Amino acid sequence: MKNILKTGILFLSLLTFGGCKKDKDLVEVTIPEPEKAVSQQVGDPDDVKAEDPDGPFQMIPLPYAYNALEPFIDAKTMEIHYSKHHVNYCNKLNAAVKGTELENKNIEEILAKLDSKNLDLRNNGGGYYNHNLFFEILGQNATEPTDEIAEKITLDFGSFDEFKKHFSEKANKIFGSGWVWLIVDMNGKLVITTTTNQDNPLMPNAEQKGKPILALDVWEHAYYLKYQNKRKDYIEAFYNVINWKKVNEKFNEIKPKTE
Ligand SMILES: [Fe+2]
Repeated sequence: MKNILKTGILFLSLLTFGGCKKDKDLVEVTIPEPEKAVSQQVGDPDDVKAEDPDGPFQMIPLPYAYNALEPFIDAKTMEIHYSKHHVNYCNKLNAAVKGTELENKNIEEILAKLDSKNLDLRNNGGGYYNHNLFFEILGQNATEPTDEIAEKITLDFGSFDEFKKHFSEKANKIFGSGWVWLIVDMNGKLVITTTTNQDNPLMPNAEQKGKPILALDVWEHAYYLKYQNKRKDYIEAFYNVINWKKVNEKFNEIKPKTE
C-alpha cells in the first residue's frame, strides 16, 4: 500500500513538474546540437602567423571569424583550412624564395614569370595566392552581385542565374583537386575557367589567362568534413557566402587597365 502511495505521489509530482515546465521553460534548456558544440571548439584566426616573421610573405588576417560562414561552411573546416593548409603554403613559399631574387617580388610577379618545372614554387606560390583570394571574397550576409560587377555579369553571361549555371557546371567537372575562377581576360571580358592542383590563371602555363576576381577551392580539404562526397552541395552552398561587394572592388581595380 505504501509503495502504491509512493508511486502515486511520484506520478503526481511528475505531472505537476511537467505542467509547470511546459512550453516556455522547456525551450530554454534545449541541449546544443553536436555539430554546434564541435564548431565552438575553434581557435582565433588572428593567432595564425607565418613561421618566419621576417619572411616576405605573411598571413593576411581573415576578415571574419571561423564560424561566420555557417551553416554553409563550418567553423572547423575554416579553421583547418586557414590554420593548417594555408599557413603551410605561406611557410613553404617563404622557404622557396629565401636567398633568391624572388624575395623582393610580389606574388603576382612571381607567378606571372613562373618556371612551371619549379614545382615547389608553383604549388606553394599558387597555394598562397589562391587561398588569399578565396578567403578574401568569402563573407557572411552575402548578397547577389550589385553595381558594376552585376552589370558586367549580365552583359557577359546573360544573367546571374546563367553565370551560376556555368560556374557550377565547370566546378562539377573538375577531376580531383583544383579551382574554379571568375577572371577578367586580356580583352576585359569576364570568363569562367578552371585549373588543377594549385595552378591559377596568372601562370604562364594556364590555358585561359586573366586576372582572377573570384575563386572557389574544390580541394577535398575545403569541404569534406561537412559535405563528404557531396561536392555538388558544397558548390551550391558557395553562392550563399560570396562577398560580392569585395568582388566588385576587385573588378573595379582591374577595369581601368583593360578598357
Ligand atoms: Fe584549400
